[in-house]
Amino acid sequence: MFDAEKFIQEKVEELKGQITGKAIIGVSGGVDSVVAAVLASRAVSENLVAVYVDTGFMRKGETEFVGDMLSKLGVNFRIYKAGGEYFEALRGVTDPEKKRMIIGERFIRNFETVAKEEGAEFLVQGTIAPDWIESGGGLRDTIKSHHNVGALPKDIGLKLVEPLRDIYKDEVRKVARALDVPVCERQPFPGPGLAVRIIGECTEEATEIIREACAIVEEEIDSASEKGEMETPWQYFAVLLPVKSVGVQGDVRAYGYTIVVRSVQSIDGMTAAYSKIPHTVLERISIRISNSMKANVNRIVYDITNKPPATIEWE
Ligand code: XMP
Repeated sequence: MFDAEKFIQEKVEELKGQITGKAIIGVSGGVDSVVAAVLASRAVSENLVAVYVDTGFMRKGETEFVGDMLSKLGVNFRIYKAGGEYFEALRGVTDPEKKRMIIGERFIRNFETVAKEEGAEFLVQGTIAPDWIESGGGLRDTIKSHHNVGALPKDIGLKLVEPLRDIYKDEVRKVARALDVPVCERQPFPGPGLAVRIIGECTEEATEIIREACAIVEEEIDSASEKGEMETPWQYFAVLLPVKSVGVQGDVRAYGYTIVVRSVQSIDGMTAAYSKIPHTVLERISIRISNSMKANVNRIVYDITNKPPATIEWE
């Protein structure tokens, strides 16, 4: 049986021996990176700087949520606000793989800048066992190039420290509970953020629309789950399509974009079944999105595709 308390004690001692200078860690707000940050912080305290890069594609309230969580956990952290540089780099780009590459590269450059400014010698990562077991190469086709805060390149010129390397997700969750990390049951969120939920070009306007739509989907589903109207899905969000259709507002013709509601049940994200959300809940989502985005959106659709053949995200 995995003993989380014993793991924490042993790892903190081990990290004290490993991290002999300044260290940084990229945190996304996901459970792996936060747990690794708390362990390293317990070992070396202020000698660790946790870095959260705000790319502009974060969920509504996410930057504040992560900052608040890290301060409560006593982790020394820094929020790096990238400003408009991601939007600039993505101007006119519509190809999903190109978008992912551009965001991944920018992220690494931002991280390098912070590492230099902090004079870091060590890079702590939240890599867990399946991350390195599954990335051993092989014959799998590249379905999409995942970008992950926990997977910064090894040639970044820093010594790598990976305290979670030998454990699996369920064990990380046990450690998270023992450390009072409040994100253990949160739904997954992709590294490139909302950018992969905007089909086509990621403009500032499109990002504002999808940020609000994702927040509405989350709030309505969380509230319905709390009231016992449905089970909490594994992942649930919105996607913005560049497809416009004709609608009517009052007695005036409208021509607006389409929002997709996506919600799935899954064990590990490798396969997924679309969630059978009650129609009453879908209707509440539809009404809220159309009321709050009258100027831009006039059609809301529900994605009823499993994975395979679809993937969970649309890009
Ligand atoms: P797909 O869309 O491939 O997603 O069926 C499977 C799970 O992975 C998440 N996802 C990502 N996670 N970096 C991540 O850390 C990424 O680049 C990325 N892309 C997708 C997705 O949200 C789902 O939970």
